[in-house]
Amino acid sequence: MKISVIGAGAMGGAMVEGFVKCGMLAAADITVSAPHEATLERFKSLGVNVTTDNKVATAAGDVVFVVVKPWLAEQVIGEIRAAVDYNRQIIVSVMAGVSGSQLKEWFGGTDGKQPRLFIVIPNIAIAVKSSMTFIVPVNADEEATAVMAALFDSTGLQMVTEERLLGAATTLASCGIAYAMRYVRASTEGGVELGFKARDAQRIVMQTMKGAVDLLQASGSHPEVEIDKVTTPGGMTIRGLNEMEHAGFTSSVIRGLKAGMSK
Ligand SMILES: NC(=O)c1ccc[n+]([C@@H]2O[C@H](COP(=O)([O-])OP(=O)(O)OC[C@H]3O[C@@H](n4cnc5c(N)ncnc54)[C@H](OP(=O)(O)O)[C@@H]3O)[C@@H](O)[C@H]2O)c1
Repeated sequence: MKISVIGAGAMGGAMVEGFVKCGMLAAADITVSAPHEATLERFKSLGVNVTTDNKVATAAGDVVFVVVKPWLAEQVIGEIRAAVDYNRQIIVSVMAGVSGSQLKEWFGGTDGKQPRLFIVIPNIAIAVKSSMTFIVPVNADEEATAVMAALFDSTGLQMVTEERLLGAATTLASCGIAYAMRYVRASTEGGVELGFKARDAQRIVMQTMKGAVDLLQASGSHPEVEIDKVTTPGGMTIRGLNEMEHAGFTSSVIRGLKAGMSK
């Protein structure tokens, strides 16, 4: 399978890195395009093909990812549309807020034909094969959906879902990376105030978060079941947790998640 990525910024670049590492593709089977040579420079060392011509990139892929800012979507799709083989290729929009109906309108020809189309929302951890990726089949058969699921299984965890859930998915998993990192920062700052050097405090916090996630994944438990195991009645952990709740911890997380939903 050959893959093309149009747009090589934070997300497109992370996807290329993840695809190179995923073990399903050879670097030579990946083509990436962006308008500026300087943007593409770092990808040359990965062994992928680079081009400033989006049409060349489009023709090179069995699966073509469009990963530009949403306001450039219509322009870029208008540019590549004629280069798309509607019978052979799978087109994937990785652009938050661009709807399936918009994609169908922009790809629709006068004969009403559509390519196989998906919306996919990974998160930035795809660069290290730890993405939470949502796959929405917009105009796709089961075979193409299975291809996408296998690809994103190799770069982390994937979930095939409905377009109506993408706003929630984006705030939970794409913005969610930033929210989780803010927790790392906050705990690290607390650790420094309590006497650790910043670097040590961050290592401690990251390993603790990893341990919490590993425990939940291994046990399949609800978080509160694991919390009950470490909260001695009248002890320090419950005092710390309750103090965080008095300051609005759960409420502020839920409010932040809701605020991060695209309108
Ligand atoms: N960042 C995330 O966590 C995240 C998560 C999910 C989805 N997304 C989606 O990913 C998309 C890209 O976001 P980003 O954060 O990666 O943006 P970004 O860092 O600004 O990167 C945009 C890239 O698009 C390239 N580009 C600009 N005009 C182009 C054109 N006409 N043809 C081809 N490439 C062009 C830019 O190339 P130059 O550098 O050469 O100008 C740049 O490499 C957005 O639609 C966003 O919704 C992002």
